[in-house]
Amino acid sequence: MKKYLVIGNPIKHSLSPTLHNYWMKKNNIDAIYEKKKLEDNDLKDLIIKVKEGEFSGINVTVPFKKKIINYLDKLSPESEITKSVNTISLDGKNVIGYNTDIDGFELAIKNINFGVLNKKILILGAGGVVPSIIFSLNKLQAGQITVSNRTREKAENLRDLFKDINVIDWGEITNFDLIINATSVGLKDGDKIDFDFSKINKGKFFYDVIYNSEETNFLKTAKKLGHKVENGKKMFVYQAAVAFELWHKIKPEINNDVYSLLND
Ligand code: ATR
Repeated sequence: MKKYLVIGNPIKHSLSPTLHNYWMKKNNIDAIYEKKKLEDNDLKDLIIKVKEGEFSGINVTVPFKKKIINYLDKLSPESEITKSVNTISLDGKNVIGYNTDIDGFELAIKNINFGVLNKKILILGAGGVVPSIIFSLNKLQAGQITVSNRTREKAENLRDLFKDINVIDWGEITNFDLIINATSVGLKDGDKIDFDFSKINKGKFFYDVIYNSEETNFLKTAKKLGHKVENGKKMFVYQAAVAFELWHKIKPEINNDVYSLLND
């Protein structure tokens, strides 16, 4: 039986196994998908196991999306540019890294029907998923992209990958059409981003990358103030669907059953 794995640290709350096992069963694929918490010094051995055929595919989440690159033989062009890998597979003798977060974000934004063309974007956070979001937004020809991160230096470092982004201090707010919370604030109950959004004109779009909380405080506040809101569920499902297709050459069905799986 083929084996697949999602690795991260922490990994307890990952819903990837639920989703992939559901789709594999639906498509009569004889395989199992598990999750595993790893440390940095486990990465090398893991990739050897992929090479030896013990695992047929790996998903990678925080904090390994960048670190894993050192151990791979080849990268897709998108992973190369974003320096971020969330999906791994074996092609002949080569272990290859892909980035399906980019497509995941793009498909989610399209599904939500929000046109980002020429829109002003403010991104909060500069962690693992942000390069993928910026890549996606550039592909969709968004307007000015501004990044604000608690540790300003990490936002500045993103300029090495995307020279056109604008960086502002944490706590400052620029004019935006779409604001994206890409920080981990909101993962825990009671977590709150301490920004004052009350002076912003109604009708903006607040997007939270967090998918395992239906409505973070960030989205709750935005909703109360009359803005459009969306959580990270669709992006999560689409990035998984693209990885699934890459591994199994089958496009999995995305329907309400899939989303209700994630609500349990
Ligand atoms: P990593 O930073 O290892 O890539 P991540 O989960 O992808 O991990 O990113 C976490 C993001 O949430 C970072 O942008 C982080 O800001 P710092 O770079 O300053 O650490 C942000 N973050 C986490 N806790 C935060 C908090 N309490 N307030 C503001 N930002 C926070």
